[in-house]
Amino acid sequence: SKSYFITLLPGDGIGPEVISVAKNALQLIASLEGIKFKFNEMPMGGAALDLTGVPLPEETLLSAEQSDAVLLGAIGGYKWDKNEKHLKPETGLLQLREGLKVFANLRPATVLPQLVDASTLKKEVAEGVDLMVVRELTGGIYFGKPRGFSTNENGEELGFNTEVYAAHEIDRIARVAFETARKRHGKLCSVDKANVLEASMLWRKRVSMIASEYPDVELSHMYVDNAAMQLVRNPKQFDTIVTNNIFGDILSDEASMITGSIGMLPSASLGESGPGLFEPIHGSAPDIAGQDKANPLATVLSAAMLLKYGLGEEKAAQRIEAAVLDTLNRGFRTGDIHSAGLNLVGCKEMGEQVLKSIDSTVPAA
Ligand code: NAD
Ligand code: IPM
Ligand code: MN
Repeated sequence: SKSYFITLLPGDGIGPEVISVAKNALQLIASLEGIKFKFNEMPMGGAALDLTGVPLPEETLLSAEQSDAVLLGAIGGYKWDKNEKHLKPETGLLQLREGLKVFANLRPATVLPQLVDASTLKKEVAEGVDLMVVRELTGGIYFGKPRGFSTNENGEELGFNTEVYAAHEIDRIARVAFETARKRHGKLCSVDKANVLEASMLWRKRVSMIASEYPDVELSHMYVDNAAMQLVRNPKQFDTIVTNNIFGDILSDEASMITGSIGMLPSASLGESGPGLFEPIHGSAPDIAGQDKANPLATVLSAAMLLKYGLGEEKAAQRIEAAVLDTLNRGFRTGDIHSAGLNLVGCKEMGEQVLKSIDSTVPAA
């Protein structure tokens, strides 16, 4: 039987709680589908800082690089918020993404029929939304140089960053986005700030050039401020969105709320080759950490993306997705997606119910 090596990075806050659920789901699906997993759990983020003094230990990166795929919970927390930049949990995550060269971050936002009432938008606006944000993940203002702190001529403190994109970075994310749109509904909206920023002017120019390779995909451009507005005005107009690192970060959190909760949104980060990195789009949620309140479904769905995009195990991925729907159909809800008349459960119980659903859901033919 096929055997895969998976590095698990639970991280901080609710990270370990949601990773435990996803790991159990992967283990069960493996036994049912004749797959074998070897898991290696490694420290990352604040947990790694406390243990080793750095947010991404060499051993953790090495294990990730040698894996077939990597599943991450979340990192960060109050305890490390005032650390110097190179000693922040978030810096470890950026080093991991850079180290694995996973430049393409796929963040699907789908309004499940079961969760229409959990959306903060009106039913008729939210119903049927199914979009994909393709976020550039290893460039832009997150990585641009120069960056840092200094002082101006008056001795006043300055903090500065640089939004910079090279043509090849735009071209490769654009190709991923066009390929993604082609497999979906053939519509791609490129989001930028080309009315103000040079990096966005180049972005728009290169995306328009790459479009000639994909005559079957309908390309449009939108400024990011308008896109933020359009996402809550009429989200159904979007199929696939491609955008830079920071706009993608912000717009995907916004898109998540259309679906009911940030606790529902998975992601896949992919490079040209090598292991993919799979993680929920949410953070470590320190406000609810350790209270068994976290919604584990974003991480369970990230495990499904790991199976599909990371390992090519489509059937196993579909079984996990079907199990999530079945669990919701049976009325189980964590607090973030709960509404009257439904069964309010914690993270662990939600995990148990997903396992039950995996067991009982008949695999798609
Ligand atoms: P967050 O996503 O952690 O939390 C925002 C809000 O959403 C909170 O109220 C939280 O309780 C809720 N929430 C998030 N995930 C949830 C879940 N699965 N179930 C139920 N509710 C959920 O964002 P934040 O509060 O801005 O950041 C907290 C920490 O996480 C910071 O240190 C930040 O840097 C870090 N962070 C990490 C990642 C990551 O690891 N990929 C992503 C975002 C933020
Ligand atoms: C995310 C997070 C990260 C990001 C932080 C924690 C570095 O917000 O994964 O969306 O900004 O990319
Ligand atoms: Mn984010």
